[in-house]
Amino acid sequence: MKKRSLATSGLLLVSAFSRAQAAEPLTVWEKAPANEEADARKLGDELINLVKKEYTTQGKRAFRDAHPRGIGCVEANFTVDPNLPAKYRTGVFASPGKSYDALLRFSSSLGPAGDQVKDARGLAIKIFGVPGQKLLADQPDAVTHDFLHIDAPTFPARDANEFAGIVALKSNPASAVKFVLSNPVLRAKEIKAVLDLSSGNPNNGKSLAERTYFSQVAYLFKGSQVNSPIKFSTRPCGPVESRSLDGSDGELRNDLQDRLNEGELCFNFAVQFYKDGAGFTVEDGMNEWKEDKSPFITVAKIRIPKQKFLTDDKLRYCDALSFQPWHALPEHRPLGNINRSRKIIYDMVSDYRHKTNQENASRPEPKDLSEWRALTSETYSNWNNVTVPAGR
Ligand code: HEM
Repeated sequence: MKKRSLATSGLLLVSAFSRAQAAEPLTVWEKAPANEEADARKLGDELINLVKKEYTTQGKRAFRDAHPRGIGCVEANFTVDPNLPAKYRTGVFASPGKSYDALLRFSSSLGPAGDQVKDARGLAIKIFGVPGQKLLADQPDAVTHDFLHIDAPTFPARDANEFAGIVALKSNPASAVKFVLSNPVLRAKEIKAVLDLSSGNPNNGKSLAERTYFSQVAYLFKGSQVNSPIKFSTRPCGPVESRSLDGSDGELRNDLQDRLNEGELCFNFAVQFYKDGAGFTVEDGMNEWKEDKSPFITVAKIRIPKQKFLTDDKLRYCDALSFQPWHALPEHRPLGNINRSRKIIYDMVSDYRHKTNQENASRPEPKDLSEWRALTSETYSNWNNVTVPAGR
C-alpha cells in the first residue's frame, strides 16, 4: 500500500474531523449531556433504518424521515425591516431594507400521508445571497441561510434522547415499554404533546396562509449591541381570509396554489428574546417562552408573489433540497441539545437519501433561484409513482 506523508495524513485527519462536524464551544446558556454526539449518531442510524423500512426496501424513493411530504415549495422575497433599530442589525439582518430571494418548503411533519390528515406542518425557509462563512464545516462557503419552523410553539420532547424514545414507540415496541415506564408522568406529557401537535393541532383544517410557524427551539442573536438567545416565528402580516379546504389529499397545496393564482401572500418574520427570570430555558424543547413575558418583534417581511408552484418538476426539486438549522451564520447559531443533535442527524439522513436516490449526491447548496426558475413545465400529476402516496 502506498505510504502517506505526515502532512497528507494530517490533512486527511483534519478533513475527517471537519466532516464529523466538530462541536462548537457551548454558550453560557447551554449545558450538554454526556455522550450527546454518540446518542445523536445512534438516533440518526435509527432514522435511516426507518427510511429504509418505509421506503427503500419497498422500492420507493428515499424520502426524509421527518417532514417527508413536501406540500410544495414557493419562491419568495425576504426583506429586512427598513427601519430596523440599530441594536438588531446583525447577521442576516445587518442591512435594513436588504432583500433576499428565498425558497419556502411547506411540509407535513409526522407522516407522509395526504394533506387532509391531521398533522403538524413544517415551514423551512432558505434564504439566498447571504455572505459570510457558515457553520456547517463541509459547506462553509454556502450562500444560503435556513430557518426551520413548525406550526406550534414547542417540540414534544425535552431533548433528542426523549425524542428517540418517541420514535421507538413506532419502530420498537419492546424498548417503547421500557421508555414509558422509565418516567410515566413525563411520557404522558410527551405523548399528549405529540397528539396536540397532530390530531389535536388547532391549525388542522386551516390554510397554510393562515398559520403561525415557530422555531420551537433557541438560536443565538449576536451582534455588536446584542448577544442573546432568541426563538423565531413566521406569522401572517394581517388577517387572512378563511376558506374551506376541498377535503382532498391535496387540499393544502390546492388552497395555496389558488391563493397564489390570485395574488401575493405576506408573512412577518419575528424574533423573541430570551428573558432572565421568566422561566425560559435553552436546553428544553418543551419549554414555551410565553409571549406575554417577551413579545415577538418583527425584523423582516416575507412576500410570496403570485406564481405557479404546483408542478412535478418543482415538487421534485423541492424534495431534493436539504434544509438544516446549521446552514447558518455564526451570528444566528442554533442552540441547545436538540439543535446540536440536529447538526449530525439531518446530515446523516439527507446524505443517505441523496445517495440512495442517486441525485445530487454531494448535496451542493444552490447559489440562487436560477435552477428553480428554469423549471417552467406546468405538468402536474401529483408526482405520481414518485411522491409519497397520499393516505398511506
Ligand atoms: C431531536 C429532534 C429532531 C430530530 C431528530 C429531527 C429530525 C429530522 C430529520 C431527520 C429531518 C429530515 C432531514 C433531511 O433528510 O433533509 C427533519 C426535517 C425537518 N425538521 Fe426536524 N428533527 C428534530 C427537531 C425539529 C424541531 C425542533 C423542529 C422545529 C422547527 C424541526 C423541524 C423540521 C422541519 C421543518 C423539517 C423539514 C425541513 C425540510 O423542509 O426539508 N425538527 N427533521
